[in-house]
Amino acid sequence: MTRTLLIFAALALGVATVFAQSDVNAARKEFMKDYRKFGDNTVSRMARDQMPYDQAKVDEAMAHFAETAAKIPSLFPAGGFQGPVADSNYFAAAKAFENQSDIQARTEKFAKDIADAKGKIRDLASLKEIWLPLYDKNCSSCHEAYRLRRPS
Ligand code: HEC
Repeated sequence: MTRTLLIFAALALGVATVFAQSDVNAARKEFMKDYRKFGDNTVSRMARDQMPYDQAKVDEAMAHFAETAAKIPSLFPAGGFQGPVADSNYFAAAKAFENQSDIQARTEKFAKDIADAKGKIRDLASLKEIWLPLYDKNCSSCHEAYRLRRPS
């Protein structure tokens, strides 16, 4: 009886873990899609002369990054590796879930660079000067380390 209960408890725990992992993987994808919206599709396009400079949109994007940066480590929990999924071109590498201290350090650097930029992006010239290196050193650098393309 005790044994049956134990097996049942272990199974329930396993199911809960699987649910928690798919939740965190979905949450990470949603999180990065918002980053695409504010980052790649807005401030980066402005900085590359692909859309007109808009101070309100820049401020909104920078506020979004400032509010959300601290959540990044929670998107890479230990043991959370899932691998490629059908509906996404990218997936997070296994080592992202192992190198917790590096993810933490990258998050702190990103949050600091965003905080340092506060109030300093006032026109297209300052956007280019501040955003382009910030993107390279934070977004692209982390993608090079931990983002993989799904094999086609
Ligand atoms: C700490 C590391 C890290 C940082 C910092 C980071 N990313 Fe990501 N990003 C990832 C990883 C890992 C993935 C792949 C996640 C997945 O598919 O599960 C990803 C995925 C993405 C995607 C693809 C989403 C999709 O369609 O599947 C976009 C767009 C993106 N990031 C934008 C950004 C932008 C913009 C920034 C900076 C403002 C940024 N990221 C900062 C690690 C990071």
